[in-house]
Amino acid sequence: MMKIKLEKAEDHELKLKPNENALGFGNHFTDHMFVMTYDQGQGWHDAEICKYKDFSLDPAAMVLHYGQAIFEGLKAYRGKDDQIFLFRPTANLERINASATRMCMPEVPVADVLKALKQLLELEREWIPRAAGSTLYIRPTMIATEAGLGVRPAKRFLFFIILCPVGAYYAEGFNPVKIFVTDKYVRAVRGGVGQAKTAGNYAASIMAAVEAKQQGYTQVLWLDAIERKYVEEVGTMNIFFKIDDELITPALNGSILPGITRDSVLRLTRDWGLKVTEREISIDEIIAANARGGLQEIFGTGTAAVISPVGSLHYKDQDYTINGGKTGQLAQRLFDEMQAIQYGRQPDPYDWMIKV
Ligand code: COI
Repeated sequence: MMKIKLEKAEDHELKLKPNENALGFGNHFTDHMFVMTYDQGQGWHDAEICKYKDFSLDPAAMVLHYGQAIFEGLKAYRGKDDQIFLFRPTANLERINASATRMCMPEVPVADVLKALKQLLELEREWIPRAAGSTLYIRPTMIATEAGLGVRPAKRFLFFIILCPVGAYYAEGFNPVKIFVTDKYVRAVRGGVGQAKTAGNYAASIMAAVEAKQQGYTQVLWLDAIERKYVEEVGTMNIFFKIDDELITPALNGSILPGITRDSVLRLTRDWGLKVTEREISIDEIIAANARGGLQEIFGTGTAAVISPVGSLHYKDQDYTINGGKTGQLAQRLFDEMQAIQYGRQPDPYDWMIKV
């Protein structure tokens, strides 16, 4: 097992905790973080839990130029009897390793990183919020730190985990969001890096998101990059459609992020006996189903977004109201069930939760 050095912040350096009822998303960071360094030929070394602080990076650090950067998002929950739970952390660590492989970056040792994360959470226990619906968001990240301007895999990397007490990701909370379907921009193309959780995918999404926001929409729904016809994902979440009592989500095709909440929703709904299908689904099929009254619900799934009902779609200069603009029954049931499992209020038949 990896040895982890501990360097605690001094008492006078500890930050004031933010108001738990106004956390927002991604605004506050805890007192400590986990870091480790990778050097080719040496592997991961110098694992340390230390004070949350600035990094010092060479201006030629390869991440700054060619974007070898990958990350994850998972959450710690304060549940029954003040117990702390993690939701499927191994799935996140396996996914960062899949992203690493795609981006020519080194894999992390999953068991060691999980151990380090638990140790960090124990130290930061007081940062895990108590307010209903709030959590401690966990952001494992890896960047190329070798100085160099040749376009090739770096030989030196930094992996770190930072923690962030959060409320709902969208200002709407658990309320229907308005989604802009873009056929002007694309997020990712098959054969590209769409299925990797790499920084560039998010950078590429910002312009469309800004334009959508200017027009009053919360998020962008991406279509496939070749025909601009098949639905992919929202970028901050995967997407599900309930049509004629069947739950449909785009099949993983290489350009869609394989969401862990997506996977959990598939598992739950199949166990509930719903008809569930992963396949290509075109935006035209969705608009047509809506026109004939067959489209019952749309919702997104994600770690940050949890379950997010979609109240309207905008496509080609037209707005379509979904389910009367209200939260659908299935989205509500999934939200309740997922939260009940995650906060430990309900038995977890899937062994998804890990006690810290
Ligand atoms: C997450 O849901 O954890 C994400 O990473 C999506 C977004 C906040 C970038």
